[in-house]
Amino acid sequence: MKHFLTLADYSKTEILEIIDLAIKIKKETKEKIFKKYMPTKTLAMIFEKSSTRTRVSFETGIYQLGGVGLFLSSNDIQLGRGEPISDTSRVISSMCDIIMIRNDSQKELKEFASYSKVPVINGLTDKFHPVQLMADYLTIIEHNKEKDLKVAYIGDGNNMTHSWLMLASKLGFDLNIATPKGYEVDQDILEQALKFAKISGAKIKTFYDPKDAIKDVSVVTTDTWVSMGQEDEKAKRLKDFKGFMVDTKLMKLAKEDAIFLHCLPAYREYEVSSEIFEKYSDIIFNEAENRLHAQKGIMVYLDRLRDTKD
Ligand code: CP
Ligand code: NVA
Repeated sequence: MKHFLTLADYSKTEILEIIDLAIKIKKETKEKIFKKYMPTKTLAMIFEKSSTRTRVSFETGIYQLGGVGLFLSSNDIQLGRGEPISDTSRVISSMCDIIMIRNDSQKELKEFASYSKVPVINGLTDKFHPVQLMADYLTIIEHNKEKDLKVAYIGDGNNMTHSWLMLASKLGFDLNIATPKGYEVDQDILEQALKFAKISGAKIKTFYDPKDAIKDVSVVTTDTWVSMGQEDEKAKRLKDFKGFMVDTKLMKLAKEDAIFLHCLPAYREYEVSSEIFEKYSDIIFNEAENRLHAQKGIMVYLDRLRDTKD
């Protein structure tokens, strides 16, 4: 069973195949052609954390594909009261055709997938946010930045950074990461990316000074300094990330025609200045909309693989 838990499990060809599918489905959607790629299929969406984009895009996406979405907050299902992951997975996958999970543990996501009879999609964990990266790459293509692509990620070494590491190392583009000391990416994920990079030719570098990382890149990106579940560390983090805000002065060091991406939600005057956010807001909100199109591509791709196997 092919799941979508991390881009580490996908080849360059497979990633680009999904992107092509997303581009095709986006074009159809814009032309108001809603082909029923997944008639009567049910998507179960388990959320253990808050969400705006992930929930709305998956629920709208499956509906537009001819199926239906079930929103399952972990507070409302027995999983939240201690029913084992293995039982929950076997029950839900016996009734639904595809499952999306947002939780705080890549390990538990993997466990859930190992018991599932249907494809499981990572809707964000502590380690990765791969569906976001598919939308980000679609946005990069739409802004003609995919050739000689060089990305700078400025901020916390978190689930978004790890996902950028996977995308860059699989597709073979250059990635500079700047984090404060103590907020580096996970060493094992970096090592895995460096292994993939040897094959793809990606150049991956880590820095402590955002000015060094952002020099001459074509895409700049960041994410919140305080991820969901880290609220208690907020005061310390705001101090430790001083100097890491993507503002006009920093952005000037990137290529003149560089674009700025943000997965959202964005916290102005922390990881990004209001000025930079507004300057690139059309691109950022297109990136957000692309969650819908990219995820429709992912769902159709996984569903077709499953149909071939049935
Ligand atoms: N970017 C993202 O995943 O947003 P939500 O947390 O609103 O789903
Ligand atoms: N790093 C953030 C991403 C939100 C989409 C978090 O995990 O909260």
